[in-house]
Order: sequence, then C-alpha cells, then structure tokens
Amino acid sequence: MLAIDHGYFQGPTTGLERVDVTILPLLPYADTLMLTRGILRTIIPPTFGKGIVLRASGGPSILSDLSNEQIAIDIDEAIRLNVAAMAVQVFIGGKMETQSVHNMTRLVDMGNRYGIPTLGVTAVGKDMARDVKYMRLACRIIAELGVTYVKTYYVPEGFDTVAASCPVPIVIAGGKKLPELEALTMAFNAIQEGAAGVDMGRNIFQSDSPIAMIQAVRKVVHEKEKPKAAYDFFLTEKNRAKKG
Ligand code: 5RP
Repeated sequence: MLAIDHGYFQGPTTGLERVDVTILPLLPYADTLMLTRGILRTIIPPTFGKGIVLRASGGPSILSDLSNEQIAIDIDEAIRLNVAAMAVQVFIGGKMETQSVHNMTRLVDMGNRYGIPTLGVTAVGKDMARDVKYMRLACRIIAELGVTYVKTYYVPEGFDTVAASCPVPIVIAGGKKLPELEALTMAFNAIQEGAAGVDMGRNIFQSDSPIAMIQAVRKVVHEKEKPKAAYDFFLTEKNRAKKG
C-alpha cells in the first residue's frame, strides 16, 4: 500500500508538494493507495482501478493536539468514492484517547453496514513511546474494538509478539525517511515477523528514486526478496532511470 495522506495534517510535506508530478508515476506499482478524498477527487485519474484506502479522520493540524480528531467523512461519500477501506487514527494513551477510539468504533459500525472494511492506525504523538509494549497494547485494543486490519510501526525488538497478539492482519507504516537499505530491511523483517504488508509513504516518495524504491519494496513484500538483493535491484533501477 502506498500512503500519501500526510497532507491532511501536515500540508504540502516534502515529496507531496506536487502529487500530480511525484505520485502519479508510482501508481502502476502500488497495490493500494491510501489518501484523502481531496487528492482522490482532484488528482488521481478515474482509470486508477486498484484499492483506495480513504483517510476518514481528521481535524487538527501539526500546529495543535493531533489526538483531537473527528470522523471526517460520511459513509455515503465513501460509497460514492467506491473505497476499499476507511482509515482512522487511534491515539491510545493520547489526550483525546476515548474520542479517537469512539471515532474508530463509529466508523467500524458505518463501514460494516455497507461492507466497507476499516483500517485502524496506531497513532503516536510526539511525546509517546514507540516500544513493543505500547504497540502490543495499541494494536490489540484497536483490533478488539472491531477494525478489519491495523496499521502500526515496526519495532526492532519483539515485533513478532505484536503481530501474534493481534487477531487481525497488521501492516506497517514506513515512518520517517531512512536510507533505502534500512527501509527495505525494516519491511523484510516486519513481513518475516508476521506483518501482512506495508503501508509506506515517506520512504518511497522521499527517496531520490521513488519508482525504483516502490519496486524494491514490492519485491520484499511479494517475493520475500532479501534486503540486500532488493537494495541491489533499487540501485540498478535507479541508475537505469538516470541514464534515461
Ligand atoms: C499518517 C499516516 C501515514 O499514512 C503513515 O504514517 C504512512 O506513511 P509513512 O510511511 O510516511 O509513515 O497514517 O498519519
């Protein structure tokens, strides 16, 4: 899954200033696209026939308390947009924890009424821990309360216990930009340790060769390619693109 929804609270973040220029060339390589309805309606061509995971919560910007989100879409709109799933941030341990959990349970109810799955995202605020204990807690609560699948962050120590104790499939976010080999290694380890897939954004669109990177990530996720081999593939594709 390619995540490009960051603008809903970050505005035109690096790599997403011109979605038409930077992201459209990546679409042939994405299985699913996670984004806001604003970008979907204005930039993504109607010929894009793969799954849309719609950002369905929002409200605060990076300038205020991120946990103070509300549901940001009607179910009728999600149906009109023919989405494959709706995504909601859940701030376990955050200031507005209960409100964000309530957003999630309402979306689950709305989605279930029409057969639309919900993706619960473990949202971590600036000051919140990202350790294995926290991820286990957050993923399990989100799954128990009804989402179809969970997005979380990879933790190097004990991620297998996060996946094993979560009764629904888990995908990992990429998080902040890492060197490509490190990002590919993280994706590989996550899959080995029980993740069903990745929902990666910055590590793809902020790469100096996003088309090469998204293809390398695909190799890791779909072909279980080892990180070093996927990285060699990345370098080959990057150099090929440079030569033009
Ligand atoms: C924003 C999100 C993003 O979609 C998610 O963080 C994935 O992007 P990245 O790989 O850049 O972390 O849910 O809240």
